[in-house]
Order: sequence, then C-alpha cells, then structure tokens
Amino acid sequence: MKVLITGATGLVGSQIAHLYISNGYTVHYVTTRSSAIKNEANYKGFLWNVNQMTIDSNCIDGVDTIIHLAGESVFQRWTKEAKESIMTSRIDSTQLLVDLLKDNENQVKQVITASAIGIYPDDQKADAFKENEIPPYADNYLAEVCIAWESIAQQFKETGVQLATVRIGIVLAAKGGALEQMARPIKFYAGAGFGNGEMWQSWVAVNDLAGIFYHISDKRLEGVYNAVAPNPIRNRPMMEAIGKAMGKPVFLPNVPKFVMKLMLGEMAAVVLSSQHVSSSRIEEVGYEFQYPQLEMALEEYL
Ligand SMILES: NC(=O)c1ccc[n+]([C@@H]2O[C@H](COP(=O)([O-])OP(=O)(O)OC[C@H]3O[C@@H](n4cnc5c(N)ncnc54)[C@H](OP(=O)(O)O)[C@@H]3O)[C@@H](O)[C@H]2O)c1
Repeated sequence: MKVLITGATGLVGSQIAHLYISNGYTVHYVTTRSSAIKNEANYKGFLWNVNQMTIDSNCIDGVDTIIHLAGESVFQRWTKEAKESIMTSRIDSTQLLVDLLKDNENQVKQVITASAIGIYPDDQKADAFKENEIPPYADNYLAEVCIAWESIAQQFKETGVQLATVRIGIVLAAKGGALEQMARPIKFYAGAGFGNGEMWQSWVAVNDLAGIFYHISDKRLEGVYNAVAPNPIRNRPMMEAIGKAMGKPVFLPNVPKFVMKLMLGEMAAVVLSSQHVSSSRIEEVGYEFQYPQLEMALEEYL
C-alpha cells in the first residue's frame, strides 16, 4: 500500500508519514528541496516545483491515497510577497496535483486535503462550529486562503477520486509549532495571555491529527472534518495550563491587542482570533482521541 504525501517534511506531514510507515505503508512524498530527497524502501522522495508547475510523475506510481498538506508557512510577517506565496503555494500545488491525476494513468482512489479552522468566523461565543455551519466565513486573509484552497480542491472529484478535507486546529507537538512558541516566554517567567485572553483555542495533539488523517483514509471517508480535540479552551487558561505543566506560573497581565498587532502586523490575526470548533463529526465516524484533554497533551509534549 502506497500513499503520496505533500508537505511530508513539515511538522504535520512528518508525523503522518511516520504513522503510515508504522502501519506497513510505503510513503512517497514530494519536496521542493533536492537536499530533502531520500530513497529508502518505505520512504521515497520526488521533486516538484510549484512555481514552475513541474512534478516528477513517478511520485504516483502504485499510490492509492494522496494527502495534500504543502504550503508556505503562515507563521511569518504577512508582507505582500509572503501573502502571495502563502496563497499560490496552496492553490498552484493543488492544481498541479489535479493535472497530474488527469494527465497520467493512476490507481489513486482518495485525496485528503488540508485546510484550517481559520475559515470559521472569529467569534468568542461558547457554541462550537460544526463543518456545515459556514458561511459566514471569517473576514480575514487566512479565511480567504482556506476558502480558495477548499474550493480548488473540489476539482479532484472530476478525476473520479473520493475527496475529504481536514480543517486543522492549533497543532500541539513536542518540537515546533504553536506550543513551542507559547512555552518560550513562559520558560522565562514572561508568559501571559493575548488580547482579552477570552479567545477560544481549538487545539489538537499532532498524534491525533495524524490519527485523523489515517482514520479518514482507512475508512475511505468523504467530506469535511474538523481536526480539533473535544475540549477547546480559552487563551488565558491555556497559557496558565502550559505554565502549570512547566512548573512556571503565568502571572503577568495579558499582552494588549494593539501591542500584538505592533509586534506581528496583520499576522496577529492568527494569534488573536477565536474559533470554538466541534470535534463531534470525526468522533461520530469512529475516531477515538488519544489526547482529548489539554493536560494529557501537555504532559506528553512539554
Ligand atoms: N501547524 C498548525 O498549527 C496548522 C494549523 C492549521 C493548518 N495547518 C496547515 O497544515 C499544513 C501543514 O502544516 P505544518 O505545520 O506541517 O507546516 P510546515 O511544518 O511549515 O510544513 C510545510 C510543508 O510544506 C512544504 N512547502 C512549504 N512551502 C512550499 C511551497 N512554496 N511550495 C511547495 N511546498 C511548500 C514544505 O516542504 P519542502 O520544504 O520539503 O518542499 C513543508 O513540508 C499547512 O498547509 C498548514 O497551513 C497547520
């Protein structure tokens, strides 16, 4: 059994690749860097260049599932060039994969594409968003990217494959990603909440996120699934829980919104927006979370 993963060298993709390999799969992956190419029995890299719309078509040989995660990082200052790159890396790479399936004989049965919970409106209300409860969408750049990405991915259906989309929450992992950023100031007793500290943070443990992708392919599920743990938490209590797990109390007042915007520019939207997102759909189709509670994930990763 072979799966093709785009973004397999990143935080989420490497965990997903690891899970498939440990379940007996061979992982093919595409990368933009020749230095990241490996040619192992169960882990084989191929080159693509999204700017030039080129891809090594051997990457789909024998593959029955494609997982598409690749895209320029959103965790950078949103200059005009960065915004362009964040958008086009996702849109053009999706088009490249659609064209690859249309132009080459293949055995691909299912494509699973990533999106993000940033598509849901920025809202501090207590009811959790379900997959079918949009529009309205968030009114910001990140939502624009998610809408465009989910929309172009619909083209995969024209190639006869089953399509699933995973709206990813705030990914917690031992190395890299949001948890490392949140824990850094706390380590130096400089931890604090952001803005009014009331924003919902719908987090997911990276092991569960990989498990959700695997479950969707294993059960050949279609449609949209949120990938968030069942117990989202507001921002200030989350920072305090991280502090508690590290034995470093969070006692400073929250960093005001305008300071966050001065520090991060428009990208502050990623940190300041509030999305209370429901995990019920993925649970209804049989996924059981390994890390349903924040404390369990913090114990594992910190
Ligand atoms: N981490 C989170 O909290 C989070 C939350 C919501 C959604 N997501 C989404 O989930 C996906 C994976 O996230 P991640 O945290 O694993 O990201 P990551 O660690 O930044 O990895 C991104 C991957 O995308 C590839 N990539 C980067 N720029 C590219 C470009 N211009 N063209 C083609 N490929 C490019 C990189 O591969 P090479 O360098 O090998 O080419 C890398 O493997 C992303 O699309 C992200 O937006 C993540």
